[in-house]
Formats: sequence, C-alpha cells, structure tokens
Amino acid sequence: MPATPLEIVEAAKANRRTLRPALLAWFDHNKRELPWRDTRDPYAIWVSEVMLQQTQVDRVIAYYQRFLERFPTVKSLASAEVSDVLSLWSGLGYYSRARNLHKAAVELDAKHQGTLPSTVEALRTLPGFGRYTAGAVASIAFDQEAPLVDGNVARVLSRLFEIDGAPQDKTREATLWELATLLVKGERPGDFNQSLMELGATVCTPASPTCLLCPVQTHCRALAAGRVDELPPPRKLPPRKRLELAVALSHRDGNVLLARRPESGLFGGLWEMPGLVLEKGTNPYASLKALFGKRAVIGPEMLVLERTLTHRDLVLRLFPVDLPPRLKAPPDQYLEWRWIPRDQTHALGMSSAMESALDEVFPLEVKKARKRR
Ligand code: ADE
Repeated sequence: MPATPLEIVEAAKANRRTLRPALLAWFDHNKRELPWRDTRDPYAIWVSEVMLQQTQVDRVIAYYQRFLERFPTVKSLASAEVSDVLSLWSGLGYYSRARNLHKAAVELDAKHQGTLPSTVEALRTLPGFGRYTAGAVASIAFDQEAPLVDGNVARVLSRLFEIDGAPQDKTREATLWELATLLVKGERPGDFNQSLMELGATVCTPASPTCLLCPVQTHCRALAAGRVDELPPPRKLPPRKRLELAVALSHRDGNVLLARRPESGLFGGLWEMPGLVLEKGTNPYASLKALFGKRAVIGPEMLVLERTLTHRDLVLRLFPVDLPPRLKAPPDQYLEWRWIPRDQTHALGMSSAMESALDEVFPLEVKKARKRR
C-alpha cells in the first residue's frame, strides 16, 4: 500500500544512511563526462544549470561551450548587449532564461563585484533564480546542503518512495522537496543532487527504466510493488494552442527587414521578419496591408512553415512585401525595425523557427550569387 507523506519522510530518514553512499558511489563510476563537470567556477555551473532547464544535455553542450568562450565571466556577460546574449541562445528556446541570466549578471557586477553569493536565500533574490536554480548552484558550486527537485529527481523519488499524485499536485510537490531536503544533508551535497538527476536521465528514465542497473533497486518501493511504469503518472498538458502568423519578407540590396519584439511575452526581445498574428479566418493580405500601409505591395504566399513549440503549434506564413526604402516608425508591436545585411542576421537573436523561415525564403547563397555577378 502506498504510504502517507509522513510515512514516506520517515522511510527516507531510515534509508538515507545506505541510500546516499550507494548513489554517490554509482555517480562516481557512471557519471557522464560533461564540460560543466570539469569546473568549480560558480558562474560556469550557473550557466550550465540555466541551460539544462527544459533542454536536453546533448543539445546544451555546444551552446554552453560557445557561451563561455564568448562570455567567460560574470563581468563579460554583464557588459554585453542583451541582443548578443539572445543571439548565442538562439535555438535553445525559453529566451527569458537568457534575459534573466544577463540581468542577474548586471546585478552581480554592480553589487557583488561579479561574484555569485553562495546561499539559496541570497541567490533567490537574483533574476531567474527559482528554487531549482538556487539549489543547484548552492549545492554544486558551493557545497551547500541545498535541495533541488527537477523532473528527473521528481521521477526518481516518486519511484523510490512510491509517491502517488500527478506532477502538478501540491502535496506531492511538498513531499518531494521535503525528501530532497532530508536526503541532501551529508557529504558532497552537490554530487548527491547530481546523482539523482543523473540516475533519472540515464537509468530511471520515464519509459523502459533499466531497474537491473539501478544502484538503489533494493530501496525502490515502486519496483517492489510492481508500479515503476505507473509512477509518476503523466503530466496533464493543457490543449495546445495554434498560433498562426503572417510574416513579411522585405529585402533590398542584400538587406532584410527585421524587427525586435518587446522584452516580455513570447519570443521576447528577439528579432524577426515583421508580421502579425492571424486570428482564425482573417485574410493575411488585408492584415499585412493594414500593418504596412497603402504603399506596400504584397506578393503571393511563398512558404508555410510549421513548428511544434512546447505549448503551441506555430504556423509561419511568409509573404514577400515590397516597401518604400525609407522606413516609417515600426508597427506598435515592435520596439524597432531595421534593414539588416543578410549575412549579419545570424548575429542577432532570432527564434529558430524564424531563422529557418529566413533561410528558406532568403538563403545566404542568393546574396553571394548576386555579388559574384
Ligand atoms: N540536469 C540539470 N542539471 C544537471 C546536472 N548537473 N547533472 C545531471 N543532470 C542535470
């Protein structure tokens, strides 16, 4: 029978003496060699933990290395333009992570001589530091007995202690953090937290976990109860929304018209070919005409690009739009717009969907071919 939260916590107290060394020994022998595991630099560890939220390890590695080459210190990040930071982030998604990283670096540079504080409480005052990030940086970079719970840890603990409840359930959430707090106490708290995450990523996976290879299989209540496959129950996702945009490709003399979105909201702070949301049933030609004015000439649709984002199905519908060379003020939904040389657009922060659309409708080679003539 599944236990009550109180019984679960009591079980963890009884188990931690054997559970901790088993996990740490397993981690020592089985951890993946990852670039952020070669460093003790709190800044580098912070960058890695921010990137690793909502993004797979394999994908993060190249971004992490490029980011640290370009911004090796808090100071270098603090003095960068946010658009350069977003540009290096392009393709990783969840761009508010990059904006907050930059904001926090500015604050650290101004108030803390560019060094990160070591406690959860102090870290949590910084932009972008939620409970997870603060726990990760405090434990991994500063050896603090600070707990963390991410998706992997939640799954491992749910199975080890047979915790019921859906992923959004408040009682379950509280029990998981209580367990994490209890278990992290002891030697090598950062490695211990990483061992739980690593086990979740490589052994205690959502589907087909390899329980035979698990260093703590004898502790696992879900395994004993034959319930590994049903814990944790799948997260109930809200229905996906369809977001359809009419997007203008305007170019002249090798330059493309790009506009920058406001800092908040979807794709906040990113550059894009200007456009607007097409509500169901609206005519893209009439909408683009209303956006760009009477003198704009709108050509036939040239591309439809569909992308699946986490919460949305994105549809970009591309139209060539011929505009007068002198730009008026940008449409209300943008902070600015500019003609950008096509071979420099990669230096701006753009979403990967927009970058793909631009590559399709205005490939870089076109410009080179034109130049050669
Ligand atoms: N996921 C996020 N951070 C991690 C880490 N430090 N080790 C393993 N998995 C992680």
